[in-house]
Amino acid sequence: MKNLISILDVSVPSLERLMADAARLKTERAEGCGLPLLAGRCLAMIFEKPSTRTRVSFEVGMFELGGHALFLDQESLQLRRGETIADTARVLSRYVSAVMIRARRHETITEFAAHADMPVINGLSDREHPCQILADIFTIRERFGRTDGLVAAWVGDGNNVCNSLVLSSGLTGMEVRVASPARYAPDPAVLDRARAAGGRVTLAATPEDAVTGADVVFTDAWVSMGDEGEEAERRKAFAGYRLDDPLVDLAKSGAIVMHCLPAHRGDEITDSVLDGSRSAVWDEAENRLHVQKAVLAQLICPYDERSFQQMLLG
Ligand code: CP
Repeated sequence: MKNLISILDVSVPSLERLMADAARLKTERAEGCGLPLLAGRCLAMIFEKPSTRTRVSFEVGMFELGGHALFLDQESLQLRRGETIADTARVLSRYVSAVMIRARRHETITEFAAHADMPVINGLSDREHPCQILADIFTIRERFGRTDGLVAAWVGDGNNVCNSLVLSSGLTGMEVRVASPARYAPDPAVLDRARAAGGRVTLAATPEDAVTGADVVFTDAWVSMGDEGEEAERRKAFAGYRLDDPLVDLAKSGAIVMHCLPAHRGDEITDSVLDGSRSAVWDEAENRLHVQKAVLAQLICPYDERSFQQMLLG
């Protein structure tokens, strides 16, 4: 894996290594014996949009791996005064070991990567949120021991997180059913790409159709960052797309509920579901840290199993 811009950048062997490394890093953190795999390395983090989880988990992750993270909001960079993305990529490549970018437009990230001489990580774009879905896959594997053969239901906006979930279907072996108002359904091109990558993805007619018999039930905000101008029409369109207990009761016994957060309690999810026994959202949020540490280690400082074991022993 050279970059993590799309979930499709992750191969099956890469996923297996990421999941194993994340599990190991999670255990080591709990036992207080983490290794400084990225000592002396710096990660630049460019944010064009606000963030809580992505910023803090990457920053803490770099610190815990012995490295350093720089928070660069676009207002304080020369990008604001017209320096190009390409020139910014060329210059940052001379200073840091990797860049994480949260961008309004996906093309900003791909253009940056085209001119960068270091790994580039998508920390959310209008098209995808691969870091989120990797943490979600890890969380599902923690709960079920596998993803293959499970059914995931997405209820709500066919947004960037939904796209990454849909595109991950071939990678995980999970069937993905999406229930969205027609206007907010995932881009048909994304569904086509997911199927071409071996995914089993379907559009469900109703939230009930999607959730019935599902193992994992996802939702996300009705009005995401950048959609504020459409708030009134979105609220109207999504009124029937709320995760409440009667809807989640249609899922399999033992099903879990996931939300990438921030949640809008009472809109896309009720307090009862978010805080209830089926909610996996707090583990999901925590796992951003462990999985991103694995991503950073794999991208910045690839190591083989043997050298990792030697470091553990040494
Ligand atoms: N889920 C997620 O990316 O959260 P933030 O927007 O807080 O980073």
